[in-house]
Amino acid sequence: MSNIILVLNGPNLNMLGLREPAVYGHETLADVEAMATRHGEGHGFAVECKQTNHEGQMIDWIHQARGRVAGIVINPGAWTHTSVAIHDALIACEVPVLEVHISNVHKRESFRHHSYVSLVAVGVIAGFGTQGYTLAIDRFATLLK
Ligand code: DQA
Repeated sequence: MSNIILVLNGPNLNMLGLREPAVYGHETLADVEAMATRHGEGHGFAVECKQTNHEGQMIDWIHQARGRVAGIVINPGAWTHTSVAIHDALIACEVPVLEVHISNVHKRESFRHHSYVSLVAVGVIAGFGTQGYTLAIDRFATLLK
C-alpha cells in the first residue's frame, strides 16, 4: 500500500502568516508544510504538499491521487462552503479524506457552518490552529496501520 499522504491547501492559504493573523496565526504555508512533512516522516509517511488558488487545478490533483496515495488531508479554504465539484472529486478519488480548518469555522459567520467536504470526509478538525495538520496525520497513522 502507498505510504503517501497528500496535504492539499485551497485558496488564500498561500497567504498564511500575512492574512488575518488574529484568525490564522503567524506561521507561513512553508512553515506548515515543513511541519507536516517532518511529522509525517516520523510516522513513516511520505508527505506531498500542494496549494492552489484555482479550483480546476485542485480537482485535477484530487483525481491524480486516486490509486496513488493512502490519504488526503485537505484544507479547502472557502471552497469548503461552495464547491460541489470538489465534493464530487473527493468521492471519485476513493481515498480517505480528513478535512482541516485552522480556525473554528463554527464560531464564525454562518456561511462557514456548512461544508460540502465534511459529507465525504472521514473526520474534521477545526479550531486547533496549524496543529490541525499534524493531528490529521496522527489520525491517518492510526487509521492506516
Ligand atoms: C479555513 C476556513 C474557511 O472558512 C476560510 O474560507 C479559509 C480558511 C480555515 O482554515 O480556517 O480560507 O478553511
